[in-house]
Amino acid sequence: MHYSGKISASDFQGVLEEVSRSVTPAIGKGRPASYIPQLRRVDPRKFGIAIATLDGSDCGAGDYDEPFSIQSISKLIALMIALGRYGDAIWERIGKEPSGDSFNSLVLLEHERGVPRNPFINAGALVVTDMLMSAYPDVPHWMQHYLHRLAGDEAFGIDARVAASEQRTAHANRAIAHMLKSYRRIRHDPDDVVASYVGQCAIAMSCRQLARALLPLADNGYSPIAKDSFLTARLARRVNALLFTSGMYDSAGSFAYRVGLPAKSGVGGGIAAVIPHVGVVVTWSPGLDRFGNSLVGATALEQFTLLTNLSIL
Ligand code: DON
Repeated sequence: MHYSGKISASDFQGVLEEVSRSVTPAIGKGRPASYIPQLRRVDPRKFGIAIATLDGSDCGAGDYDEPFSIQSISKLIALMIALGRYGDAIWERIGKEPSGDSFNSLVLLEHERGVPRNPFINAGALVVTDMLMSAYPDVPHWMQHYLHRLAGDEAFGIDARVAASEQRTAHANRAIAHMLKSYRRIRHDPDDVVASYVGQCAIAMSCRQLARALLPLADNGYSPIAKDSFLTARLARRVNALLFTSGMYDSAGSFAYRVGLPAKSGVGGGIAAVIPHVGVVVTWSPGLDRFGNSLVGATALEQFTLLTNLSIL
């Protein structure tokens, strides 16, 4: 693909359709998350892809307007809010290194005395949520409001059934939160922190809405939709660095090799990838690989960067 002048989302319409066609044989592969019972009910044959560009336009293919559970992609939003509010002070309580362990692992946390490796594993996200709880009385609704502004769209929100379903089975997250509390790394009640975190994860959005909302990561912290700055350029760049090294958990290396874009996945089957200075591309397909990342989504993003040459490497 060749680009001349200003890039607009419609320049990608043909590519998105081609990507969508090329992954058709793989659709249905992988397994939807089952440890959150409500996520098991989603049709595994869904596939959507959308792109939003810095001029504020967007386009997509497949089921790109259908809401899905953003799950761990909310950890990225939480990090953006926390960095915007507290800046680099958050790194006193969380690391920046990849973990090489599964997203809900307890193993490293004990070794490292309650300082999570990075903000994207569950332990790190629980610490970020604890920080946000000191600033906002109702973190999930604050995040929803923040996302409404960023996406320029209020037609989405928290799926209460998904939240209730995860709340009933959040044993690993409760164990992590209590361990964090035993090391005095969180200030609030561990069960309240888990409830807030689970509420954030249950926000449901479409590929199109997410791509629009995450544009500040591609535009030096500026949202062309909200027409406001959400992060400094320096912090936006740093969030992308963390996404690149830790956003896909213990398959961050192979994802970087295949796709070459900073990205965040969620067990709802979404993957949001940032193309610095161009835009944000989001895929959704519920079947997951063994790392908890969307199998078809990763293949689609690999196709996308092959066809467009838009990777950072
Ligand atoms: O905490 C959990 O297990 C889920 N709410 C989110 C996990 C997740 O999305 C991991 N990403 N691939």
